[in-house]
Amino acid sequence: MANEARIIVEDKEYTCPIITGTEGEKAVDIRALRGDSGYVTFDEGYANTGSCQSNITFIDGEKGILRYRGYPIEELAEHSTFVETAYLIIYGELPTCEQVEAFSSRLARNAAVPNDMEHFFEGYPAKSHPMAILSGLINSLSCFYPQYATNNHQEDLANFDEVAAAALSQVRTIAAMSYRMSQRLPYIYPKKDLRYVENFLHMMFSEPYSEYIPEPEVSKALNLILLLHADHEQNCSTSTVRMVASSEANLFASVAAGVCALWGPLHGGANMAVINMLEAIHADGDDGSTFIADAKTGRKKLMGFGHRVYKNYDPRAKIIGKACERVMNNLGVEDPLLDIAKHLEEVALQDDYFISRKLYPNVDFYSGIIMRVIGIPINMFTVMFGIGRMPGWIANWKEVAEHPNGRIYRPRQIYVGENQRKYVPRDQR
Ligand code: SDX
Repeated sequence: MANEARIIVEDKEYTCPIITGTEGEKAVDIRALRGDSGYVTFDEGYANTGSCQSNITFIDGEKGILRYRGYPIEELAEHSTFVETAYLIIYGELPTCEQVEAFSSRLARNAAVPNDMEHFFEGYPAKSHPMAILSGLINSLSCFYPQYATNNHQEDLANFDEVAAAALSQVRTIAAMSYRMSQRLPYIYPKKDLRYVENFLHMMFSEPYSEYIPEPEVSKALNLILLLHADHEQNCSTSTVRMVASSEANLFASVAAGVCALWGPLHGGANMAVINMLEAIHADGDDGSTFIADAKTGRKKLMGFGHRVYKNYDPRAKIIGKACERVMNNLGVEDPLLDIAKHLEEVALQDDYFISRKLYPNVDFYSGIIMRVIGIPINMFTVMFGIGRMPGWIANWKEVAEHPNGRIYRPRQIYVGENQRKYVPRDQR
């Protein structure tokens, strides 16, 4: 069987090689097509276009498979922690005991933001959205660590371990400080002896004279949430990080752009939109049936449902859905929104509108409920997604920076605007 594709345009035949991935996924390599034929391909939204070859994460949307560096998400969710999984995603291997200790020490050493950065928060209105603060301050880290942000890939790679630790550790600190600022509360500084998640919760909820000690169930649930968000192939925000990294921009600038892309309600903002949707349904005394009817008319979207890649159940949604029940039982709390969510899922999965469009719950459908139960404020939900996705963004920046023949990402377009217009003096328009 020929390992090439043949394209015939204007009665001329062009051949394009076929690329086959580790799991057998196929691609037509069109890199020479424009040079040979003058034609580009058109794929609005890149739904059918591979932008890179990557070693980090694999998704099979039809089978509902997600693997980080070859490890199934179900195994990592059961056995690993966010920090260990972050190491795996960034460096490609599960760490030894010594490696994870050294990594944790780097994170601890890099946990506090530069002193002068505290003044940045004073300029923001209390009601500022934390994603706006997060993207601004992460990018500003390059002002405090210019040696890590030279915009020369080789130089920035030489300091990669420290840059990665600074980004991964301080995204958490900036997030907590933005919450404290919004509540006009004093900042709580990171503690050297606390693990990643416990330190975040300490910085969020401790008070100057009373330390917040999370229930083990809460720490476990937050570890799971962050781990499940740690990477996801070329989603909107990760592709944004790669786009920016391809210009040789430093890691802080690249992941700050990822934060901006994640903010949108069609992407990371969906976890907040799900809770707002469930609360509105609850307030209307609806069990979700009316909302489903509206969603089927196109008037509303069932937030937390549907996915560009998963045409089967998002494996992360399955894991989080089960964790919701476990956390609530162990904490002895109930949340009517969970009942509504489960009813929405049950009805939608039996309704042809959703079945025919292969719409299933995605990672955002249950994640907001579990974050609500463990006490994360709703306007921090997308920030939590950003903390979780940081390892994936860092790993993708590294993959672009290390590419031996890396080229700047610069898609083509099809121009459909006006043509050949003649300038008319202003007084004659
Ligand atoms: C994330 O890419 C990633 O990997 C993202 C992510 C990650 O980890 O990085 O997984 C995280 O972003 C998950 C998605 C979170 N977003 C939401 O839950 C928002 C609600 N979902 C939709 O907006 C939508 O499903 C998207 C954005 C997720 C996917 O959009 P697509 O692939 O462009 O699909 P589409 O809009 O073309 O929809 C196809 C059809 C349309 O109907 P028809 O025009 O064929 O009649 O399905 C309908 C859509 O109207 N549809 C929905 C729907 N999602 C799609 N109808 C009702 N409710 C929905 N949620």
